[in-house]
Amino acid sequence: MTDQSSNQMWGGRFAAGPDAIMEAINASIGFDQRMAAQDIAGSRAHAAMLAATGVITDSDAQAIREGLLTVLSEIQNGEFQFSTALEDIHMNVEARLKEVIGEPAGRLHTGRSRNDQVATDFKLWVRDQLDAAESGLLALIRALLAQAEAGADWVMPGFTHLQTAQPVTWGHHMMAYVEMFGRDLSRVRDARARMNESPLGAAALAGTSFPIDRQMTAEALGFDRPAANSLDAVSDRDFALEFLSSASICAVHLSRFAEELVIWSSAQFRFVTLSDRFSTGSSIMPQKKNPDAAELIRAKVGRIYGANTALMMVMKGLPLAYSKDMQEDKEQVFDAADNWMLALAAMEGMVKDMTANRESLAAAAGSGFSTATDLADWLVRVLGLPFRDAHHVTGSLVAMAESKGCDLPDLTLEDMQSVHADITDDVYSVLTVQNSVNSRQSYGGTAPDQVRAQVKRWKALV
Ligand code: ARG
Repeated sequence: MTDQSSNQMWGGRFAAGPDAIMEAINASIGFDQRMAAQDIAGSRAHAAMLAATGVITDSDAQAIREGLLTVLSEIQNGEFQFSTALEDIHMNVEARLKEVIGEPAGRLHTGRSRNDQVATDFKLWVRDQLDAAESGLLALIRALLAQAEAGADWVMPGFTHLQTAQPVTWGHHMMAYVEMFGRDLSRVRDARARMNESPLGAAALAGTSFPIDRQMTAEALGFDRPAANSLDAVSDRDFALEFLSSASICAVHLSRFAEELVIWSSAQFRFVTLSDRFSTGSSIMPQKKNPDAAELIRAKVGRIYGANTALMMVMKGLPLAYSKDMQEDKEQVFDAADNWMLALAAMEGMVKDMTANRESLAAAAGSGFSTATDLADWLVRVLGLPFRDAHHVTGSLVAMAESKGCDLPDLTLEDMQSVHADITDDVYSVLTVQNSVNSRQSYGGTAPDQVRAQVKRWKALV
């Protein structure tokens, strides 16, 4: 072995150790220690396979596998001394293993490289996060379903351009987010299925001349199969990019919903009351209850999409196979994952706890001439007017109501007939908000029956 100044893993070729700046730019142990459990799982699987294929002895494999568990518990108990000189988690673990079990530790790195090792560790880490995202999304979807079921027939205004458009139901609005988070869920599941191939055994880039069994290590680590091309296995990070892009799309959905909660909880809207548990106060204005969690969720998309962009730029133009650039993958993914999981949990908590203010929703649902389309549709259906003419007649009636300072149902039949003589009393039946939503029975429409059918369908899925 070499002296202290050069590296114990590759010191044979080196006369001097690295400059302090070199060490600082090169080291990843400050962050990749988060993959310790995955690194040790990968090494334990590798050691068992090396013994099964006769590359190392059973007793060496046994010593390695047990020693690795000792190292793991030292890390988990916070007793492990991480060393920047040892660069990354892989070499920190291996060096400590050497101290714990001695000579057999040197046989662990047979038939592999840090290149397949890091790809394996990182995949296992990302896979765990996809599983966490799946649970977080399922919990959020269930919370939304509970809201939708309770308020399947509560009327509220539906908006386009944030202007009152047509009445919808609370349940329908909640179910819109169920659809969005449901697609996020399917993206997460797709990404997991696609990424679940083992890089282990690809070695540095070309595979190995040792008679390894990649099927065995793949199975031991819960992969569906070994990755079929060793160059690809060590050099792509598309699984991390897919994680980040799925996270980004979900974060966009979260931010839109968060924005609605911010608006809805304002004194001007009063559509929802957020619970004390998910609100904050103001240190100066005693009356305030602020939707900080919603605001922070709204903001998270910035860093999550930032991570996606950053890793895209890291990977762009890299020649095959491994380049050290790829060490820059981890901090982006770690930060995005932490914030995605937190945002999902916070949104679930807010949705579970929040109260929809039925009266405010109903009052707002009828304002802004929200049943004007129903009136136009009535003119088409009952009087046989072409829709364009009906639109015009309705526009005149809206203008009349506006000038009188009343809503459409408050116009008298004489008022109505002054615009179109054939209008009858029957028209009032479509001007109520409840009838408006009840009538929207088209598949996927806002009618409470349709909403309940969708809630039922989703409940069977999640
Ligand atoms: N710390 C490195 C990374 O995160 C591990 C792989 C290093 N491989 C190498 N050939 N230098 O990418």
